Amino acid sequence: MNKTKSTLDRIRELALRRGIILPTAKIYGSLAGSYDYGPIGSILKRKVVALWRDMFTDENTWEIDGNVVLPRQVFEASGHLEHFTDLMVQCNNCKSILRADEVIEAQVDVNVGETRKERMKELFTEKTINCPVCGSVFEDVELRPFNIMFNLDVGPTGKGEGFLRPETAQNMFLNFRYTKMGVKENLPFAITQTGKAFRNEISPRQFLYRLREFNQMEVEIFGTPEIFANHPALDRDLEITFLPKNGEKAFRSNLGTLVTEGIFPNEYFAYLVGKAATFYRRLGIPKEDLRFKEIPDEDRPFYSAINVDVEIHFSIGWKEVEGTAYRTDWDLKRHSEVSGEDLDVLYNGKRVIPHVVEASFGVDRSVMAILEKAFHKKEEDRKWKWLELPPCLSPFSVAVFPLFDREELITKAREIFEDLTSNDIDAIYKEKGSIGKRYRFADEVGIPYCITVDPTTLEENSATIRDIKTKRQIRPSCEKFSSILSKLLKGKAIFKDYTEGE
Ligand code: GAP
Repeated sequence: MNKTKSTLDRIRELALRRGIILPTAKIYGSLAGSYDYGPIGSILKRKVVALWRDMFTDENTWEIDGNVVLPRQVFEASGHLEHFTDLMVQCNNCKSILRADEVIEAQVDVNVGETRKERMKELFTEKTINCPVCGSVFEDVELRPFNIMFNLDVGPTGKGEGFLRPETAQNMFLNFRYTKMGVKENLPFAITQTGKAFRNEISPRQFLYRLREFNQMEVEIFGTPEIFANHPALDRDLEITFLPKNGEKAFRSNLGTLVTEGIFPNEYFAYLVGKAATFYRRLGIPKEDLRFKEIPDEDRPFYSAINVDVEIHFSIGWKEVEGTAYRTDWDLKRHSEVSGEDLDVLYNGKRVIPHVVEASFGVDRSVMAILEKAFHKKEEDRKWKWLELPPCLSPFSVAVFPLFDREELITKAREIFEDLTSNDIDAIYKEKGSIGKRYRFADEVGIPYCITVDPTTLEENSATIRDIKTKRQIRPSCEKFSSILSKLLKGKAIFKDYTEGE
């Protein structure tokens, strides 16, 4: 049977072909739930993280770089040992072990919260639910919690027990006291971290969506409920699409109203939601594909008083990419109790345990969203796929090609390339292969402009600039390249503004 390829399959193929995203250990048949960033993907990932860092580094924000292996006590205190579980179901026939909520949701029209064990058990009894692997009907199911943290034997005796962190956040709580002391901060201040997190997901799937090793970008703002009530830089008029937890339809609202009506707990929380909205718009996600979902109480993480997730509309449906949480004083209080260290601070003459608002972004899900929104299928007039990336995320701003492998053309093309890079334009030079193949490379990795040096360049000192979107070309004189490209890349001009002969 000739199954039509899904958008995600097409993107996965392109990502492999062009060294964007590569299945881990592909030459050994790959490792489930694991992907590597290839050369082009690494640039994209670096640009996403750089943009995030730029946007989330406010005054009084300090970035740390913590260990990924943490001792058992951390997760006893944080609650992850007890609560960080998924319910799994085993098929009596083929013995496959699967996530219970996913099996149910794929076959029954319900949205089951991951924590509602009794309800899930009832559904397996009430409905005919088949094992997605062998097809046999589930009967007499036992639902068992499975802790999704990876644990490790640490040291040669194997007696030390460590865990790979399931969120980068814990390092920020563990280092709160020493960060505050080291940089002499008073409340409110923030700690950020970007880096790896690990979860032994029962069923990793959907490309970069559910991985076992993934990357997070997290910010924890430390303050008190009084401090959090007012944020001096909150854009109260910023509108978002909000999906309430009461099951009612999504509606547009501004951040100010969501605070005033008590839907958001405080202005700092609203501020982080607003920043998340702006961040995803800059990644090229259209407004209509972005919504903010309030998480129902029974599905909320154990550490949080309120959670609002950013969801993006992918080809596979609405999916979470970020979570904003009001973690209250849960983490510092628990770490203080279990470690015996004082984590309280002096604020307005009183000792208080700080409260925390958090924004937690997945790098990989963000990259997947960028690729989905930038992706174009093969078309009538373009026989290959292409990526229309926001200029700030393109792996290179411009590619420079000599039309033929001829010394004079190569020398001139190299001169143009050097001139662009010395003017801070992120250029790549390529001389091998037919011009068609080089345009294809540029289109497939999302380079917005290509300059081609041809024999006329040597006579007239002009060369073509090709625009990825329209494939239209203009022919300015070589000394104008830097200024034209700077304007185009900064959005101060559009390609249409230039005429063919310019
Ligand atoms: N510190 C809070 C926290 O970790 P989370 O909602 O569990 O909250 C935050 O995770 C983000 O991390 C998610 O919105 C998602 O983008 C990313 N993430 C979580 N699990 C993931 C996985 N298995 N694969 C890829 N990304 C994941």
